[in-house]
Amino acid sequence: MAAKSKVTPKKAKPAKAVTPPIQALPPVSQDQPAVLGRRKGTKRIAILTGGGDCPGLNAVIRAVVKSAIGKHGFQCYGIEDGFHGLIYRRAHPLDSFAVSGILNQGGTILGSSNKDNPFSHTMHINGKDQTVDLSGQCIEYIRQMGWDCLVCIGGDGTLTMASQLAKKGVSVIGIPKTIDNDLSATDYTFGFATAVQTAVDALDRLHTTAMSHHRVQILEVMGRYAGHLALESGIAGGGDVILIPEIPYDIDVVCEECLRRSRSGKRFSIVVVAEGAKPIGGELTIAKLVRNMPDPIRLGGIANVIAEQICQRTGLEARATVLGHLQRGGSPIAVDRILSTRFGHHAVELIARGKYGRMVALQGSAIGDVALQDAIHKLKPVDLKSEMIRAARAVGTCFGDATP
Ligand code: F6P
Repeated sequence: MAAKSKVTPKKAKPAKAVTPPIQALPPVSQDQPAVLGRRKGTKRIAILTGGGDCPGLNAVIRAVVKSAIGKHGFQCYGIEDGFHGLIYRRAHPLDSFAVSGILNQGGTILGSSNKDNPFSHTMHINGKDQTVDLSGQCIEYIRQMGWDCLVCIGGDGTLTMASQLAKKGVSVIGIPKTIDNDLSATDYTFGFATAVQTAVDALDRLHTTAMSHHRVQILEVMGRYAGHLALESGIAGGGDVILIPEIPYDIDVVCEECLRRSRSGKRFSIVVVAEGAKPIGGELTIAKLVRNMPDPIRLGGIANVIAEQICQRTGLEARATVLGHLQRGGSPIAVDRILSTRFGHHAVELIARGKYGRMVALQGSAIGDVALQDAIHKLKPVDLKSEMIRAARAVGTCFGDATP
C-alpha cells in the first residue's frame, strides 16, 4: 500500500569514502572465461548496461558488437550486471554469435544493476560495513583487461558514473537509455516508445471495461519526475485527463471533468497519471525509500489516492491500475530497435575515430553526439509551451489545472 509522504526528493549522500585494500576485491583471474589474446592493431571495448532496464538494450548491445567486430575488427567484452561487474571483476567476451537472435528480446543479456557505484560502494571490510571508493580498482581492472574503451549504456545515474571515470582518464562512450525519456541532451531515448505502446495497450483495455461499468479508470505510469510517458501515452490512448509532474493538479478540476463527462452522456472517464504527479501545493506520493541506492526514492501509489478522492467527491465509481514494471519489460517495438541500432553503430564510429568522452544522441532526425559531461544532471521536463501540449488541450484533454 502506497504511503503518502512529505519527503522532498533528494539523492542519498555518499558516506566518506575510504580506499579498501586491493585484496578485498577478487583478482583478475587468468581462468576468467577469457582474457582474449589481443590481436595486434585492434581495439578492445567493454560494454555495460546500468540502471533500470528498458526494451532495446539488447538491440544496442547487438549493434555495438556487430559493427565493432564486423566493420572494424575490434574485440568486445560484456561486463556483467552494470557497474557491479566492473567492481567485482566479472566480464566475458562477446562475439557475433553471443549477440545473435537478441534484437527483439527485452531486458539485457548482460544484466543490470541500479545499486552499484564504483565511487561509493558499501562492502564488508575488517568486520564492518564501510562505504568505499573503488574507482581506482575499477580502473586497474580495465587496464589489466586491456580495454581501450568502456561503452556505458544507461540513464543519468550510469552516465554520471561513466563521466566520473572519464575524468579519471578512462576512455568512455555513453549511450542514453530510459523509458522516462528525461535526458535533455537527446530528443528521444530508446525504450521510451515501447513503454508508451505498453501503456497505450493498457489504456485500450481500460477503455472497454470503463465503458461497460461507467467508471473512472485511472492508469498510473512511470516516468519518475518527468511527464513524457504519461503525456504521450495519454494522447495516444485517449486519456480524458492527463496528470504530469510539470503541471500540478487541482483535484476539484479533475473531479469536475469526470462529472462533466458523465452529465454529458459520456459515462466513463480515463485518467492517465504520471507517478511523479502531485497536487498544487502538495507532495509526491512515495511508495518506499530504498536504502543504499544512488536514488533511494521509489515513486508510486498516486493512482490509488486519486481514485479514492474521485469516489468520495463525485460519487462516481473509480478504479486504479498501476502499470509498474510492465512498462520496462518485453520486446522493443520497431522504432526502438531502429534507434538502438543507430545509437550502437554511432558509438562504435566514435570509438573508431578515438572520439571519447561523448554521449550519442538523437538530434532531430539525425544521430549525433554531445560531450558526456554536458549531458549529465540535465533532466528534460515536458515543455509546457510545446505543440504537443497545445494539441492535447485542443482535443479536450484536461491537465487538472484551471483552464489556461
Ligand atoms: O527510470 C526508470 C524507472 O522505471 C522509473 O520510471 C521508475 O520510477 C523507476 O525506474 C523504478 O525503479 P525500480 O526498478 O528500482 O523500482
